[in-house]
Amino acid sequence: DVRVYVEEAPGQRRELEAPTDMGLSLMELLKANEYPIQATCGGMALCATCHVEVLAGPALPEPSEDEWAMLDTLPVLHETSRLSCQIRLTPRVDGLVVRLAEVA
Ligand code: FES
Repeated sequence: DVRVYVEEAPGQRRELEAPTDMGLSLMELLKANEYPIQATCGGMALCATCHVEVLAGPALPEPSEDEWAMLDTLPVLHETSRLSCQIRLTPRVDGLVVRLAEVA
């Protein structure tokens, strides 16, 4: 299993655990834990409502061109902004810390 952390308030992190053998994305894990993510495109990198800011943890693979294009449309973009639907929950992401980004 893999563990990721959601910073819900400064200094307050919630641990989420997920299996790594189901091909889940971080967006799916966040939704399953009732975080308010709309994911209207269903994880196709086409809506940006699954925007998160990566705060700490292992280096992630670079965003794809589609992900970049979508991130570019956001009114507020952080240096470490990502679309959580494009982050696969594999052992490589163990220890990742994210914060839900505000969606305008
Ligand atoms: Fe739509 Fe991630 S769910 S971009």
